[in-house]
Formats: sequence, C-alpha cells, structure tokens
Amino acid sequence: MIEMYVKAGQAHKQRDDAVVIPLLGGRKLSESGKLLQQETGKALPSFLRKQDVSGKFGESKTLYHVEGSLSSRIVLLGCGDEKLLTLHKLRMLSARVARELDAGGARDAVLYLSELSVRGASLADKVQAVAEGVWLGLYRFDKYQSSKEGQERRLRSVTVMIASRRDLDTAQAALDCARAVSAGTNFARDLGNEPGNVCTPEFLGEQAAALSHDKLNVTVMDKQAIEAAGFTALLAVNQGSAKEPRFIVLEYNGGSDDQAPLALVGKGLTFDAGGISIKPAAQMDEMKFDMCGSAAVLGVFKAVCELNLPVNLLGVIPSTENLLGSAAYKPGDIITSYKGVTIEVLNTDAEGRIILSDALAYAAEKKPAEIIDFATLTGACVIALGGQATGLIGTGEKLKSALKSSGEHTHDRVWELPMFEEYQEQIKSEIADIKNTGGREAGAITAACFLSRFVDDIPWAHLDVAGTAWDMKGSDIAAKGATGAGVRLVMDYLLKRNA
Ligand code: BES
Ligand code: MN
Ligand code: ZN
Repeated sequence: MIEMYVKAGQAHKQRDDAVVIPLLGGRKLSESGKLLQQETGKALPSFLRKQDVSGKFGESKTLYHVEGSLSSRIVLLGCGDEKLLTLHKLRMLSARVARELDAGGARDAVLYLSELSVRGASLADKVQAVAEGVWLGLYRFDKYQSSKEGQERRLRSVTVMIASRRDLDTAQAALDCARAVSAGTNFARDLGNEPGNVCTPEFLGEQAAALSHDKLNVTVMDKQAIEAAGFTALLAVNQGSAKEPRFIVLEYNGGSDDQAPLALVGKGLTFDAGGISIKPAAQMDEMKFDMCGSAAVLGVFKAVCELNLPVNLLGVIPSTENLLGSAAYKPGDIITSYKGVTIEVLNTDAEGRIILSDALAYAAEKKPAEIIDFATLTGACVIALGGQATGLIGTGEKLKSALKSSGEHTHDRVWELPMFEEYQEQIKSEIADIKNTGGREAGAITAACFLSRFVDDIPWAHLDVAGTAWDMKGSDIAAKGATGAGVRLVMDYLLKRNA
C-alpha cells in the first residue's frame, strides 16, 4: 500500500504533482478552492466560467501549471450536490481520483476532500473514508501477470488535507485506523484471489501462522491433530480431496483475562467442486472464492493486530477442499459430528454448513461472549440479495442491530433474513438428527438453521457473504475479484464495541 499522510495547509502552497480540489454542483468551490481561486489570479476563474465543467459527481478536470499554484496539476473533482454527500460517496470519489492520478503519472498528491460536509459524519469519519478509498481503490492482484509494462504504480504518496492544525491528532488516528482496516481488507482480497492450486488448506494455515503479534497465538492443526481432536464433520468433507485439511485457531488476547472473547468463525473451503453432487462447469472457477469467509476472519485479525486493540478475540477456521476422489463422502452418508449431532448428507455440495458445524461447536465450547461467522454459504443468498448486501441471520439481537448500523456506516452492508422456528422443520431428518439440505425454499435461512444447532445459547450472527465476497464486474473501491467483504463491517463493530 502506498504512503498516506494528514496535513493542514493551503492549496496554493502545496508543492506536489497534484492538488485535488472538490468542485460542487453548479461549479461551486469549497473553502480550499475559493482561496486557491484568489491566489491563482485569473486562471481558475476563467476556467470555471467555461461550460465544460459542471461539478457533477465523478467528473474530473485537470489543469496544468496554473499560475500562482506551486503544484504542477490542479484536479477539479466533481462532487455533486454537497447535501447529497455520504461517506460512501467520499470513499468512491477518493478511490476514483487516486486511480486517475496514478494513471496520469502523478507521484504525489494532496486531497482536499475531507473539508466537505457529510451529514452525520465527524472529521475522523471523513478522513477515514477518504484514506480507505485511496488504499482500497488502488488495490490490484497482478502477481501472476508476467508483463507489467505500462502498469507500474506511479503514485507514491497521498496526503489528506484538513482545515485546522488543531485536528491533526484526530485525523492522524483516523488515518491509522483506515490503514489497518484497508490492510486487513486487502489481505483478505489477496487470499481470496489466489487460485485454488496455491491457496490450499495448508497455505491458509501458513498465512494465519505468519500473522505475528505478541498478543496473538495461532495453532494450525494438521490431519492427524484434527483426527485426534475429533473434528469428524470436517474430515468427512475432506475425504474426497488428496490435500490434507487444516483446523486453524487464532487467539488474540489484548483485553483483560476475565473478559470472554468475541469468536469469529470463517468457512475456509479452498475449492468447492460440489463433491459427488458435482456443480455445473460454468463459473466453477469462481469456487476458489469459497474460502472468503476465512479470509475475512484473517483480515480482521490482521487489522486488530495492527491497531493493537485491547480486545479478546477467538478465530476458528475449518479448511478443506470439496472434491470427488474415490473416498469422497456420498449422498446418504451419515456423519457423527464433533458435537455428537448426527448429520444426514443429502447433497455433498452443502458442505460449508458441515465443516462449520465442527468449528462453531468448538468455538461455543470456549464460552465466547458472541459468535460471528462468515461464510460463502448459499447460492440462495445470492438470489435473495445479489451483491448489494451480505445476508445476516442469527440469535444475537443486540449483535445484529449493531452489525446493521456498522453496515450502514461502512457501506459493507448487511440485510437480515428471519430465522423463524418453523424453518427448522425443513432440516429434520428421518434417519439422523438433521439433514444437510432443507429443500429449495428459503435456502439461505435453512442453512443458518443448520448452523444454529451448534452455537448453544451464545448470541450469534451468521454472515452469508456468498453474494458480496467477490465481484467479477469490479467497482470504484474494489477491483474485479475478491472484495474483502466483512472486514470493514466487523472492524467498525469492534471499534465501536470497544469505545
Ligand atoms: N459455496 C457454495 C455456495 C455458493 C454458490 C456461493 C454460488 C457463491 C455462489 C455452497 O457450498 C453450496 O454449494 N451451496 C449449495 C447448497 C445446496 C446444495 C443446498 C447451493 O447454494 O446451491
Ligand atoms: Mn458447495
Ligand atoms: Zn461451498
């Protein structure tokens, strides 16, 4: 990630490759722009009088070598109607402008975006959003492209400008927070984007173990240790794969000893072919992203370590491939899980809930204060919500409502689906305790019903990131591929829970 700074100072005095000035709808300049207009003689006013610039959202115009300005470029960035601005829009604007500056060859730039007023947002919120936009917007995954010609990063540093020196401490703290959250998000993206032949259960274990912090303890169980511990449901799904499974446990102890941890559980299915109930070939390549739940967990741990947060966290990641080797588990099989609950397998492609059953039961044994799980669990959730929101289902009412507001605040959004008692009927088995599919109706909900059998009475929120964890179209703040969904959401939740 590139360098970022915060600073207070006037626009015409900055000696950078580019100064980015917001231009509001109706060609209205913000405070920094008005001063710049005074200091640059006729150049800026005469440019603004021309009709080819409107200030509409997302438009940008670059002026070179404006007299009176010490920077070689002034970028007028259209921000639209100030009354309609949101933190999300600010984040999108800074992401877009960062990519444009980089493509245009600017090496350093200052951004006057956080002086805009955004309803309900503090200066810290705005600085954080602008900085996240830059770091998230510049992300790309190009390590496997041998020719980088014409694609070298030119932008080396970006400075978020604020109006008053008195707010520098606040702004610096917000920048540090954005750096950690962005690093966690981009780490989750990197893990998700790695192909299935590289990102194996073993690789996920190594990545977890490589997170290092004096308050963090990581245990990676191999197949033998998993057998000894009795994670039989994970082993059943692993039967069809030539690669060993892993069961990863992360313990971060930044809080007091008597404080029950928050448990984060993530589905680490490194490739989901569906098993014997094989998936269709179209887009099966995207099933390398089926470990994005675990990537979100690791992203949160990375950010928490960077911020050295005074919290206690427990992370649990069950990891395997779901393939169809000759020893593969089969429809009709009955698995006795770690918790002792028996599972009738009706479809080997509903494997996520099976491996999560052992992870959730293990997490619940540790008596955490709350459990949040992240999983690319169901196609049904993608049908229900598309890519616009993560599915939220669970029993922790306070937890869910806090996650909803963090979702709004970060635009890493969630939408709740109900888990009425009646849905549990759909996973009743004739021959075992539960079956692993609940029919076509309410598929995202019956998957959650299955998980609910393993969390005891601990307040729990399930995040189905099947629609949000990757995006093959790409957006302003996320390149095509893994998005890191869930990291910003849960980091905001953690920071507010702790405040
Ligand atoms: N990993 C998939 C869910 C998925 C599908 C995520 C498409 C993102 C895009 C999961 O393991 C799965 O296959 N679920 C099945 C469950 C069904 C067999 C009950 C599904 O949703 O089709
Ligand atoms: Mn599956
Ligand atoms: Zn899956």
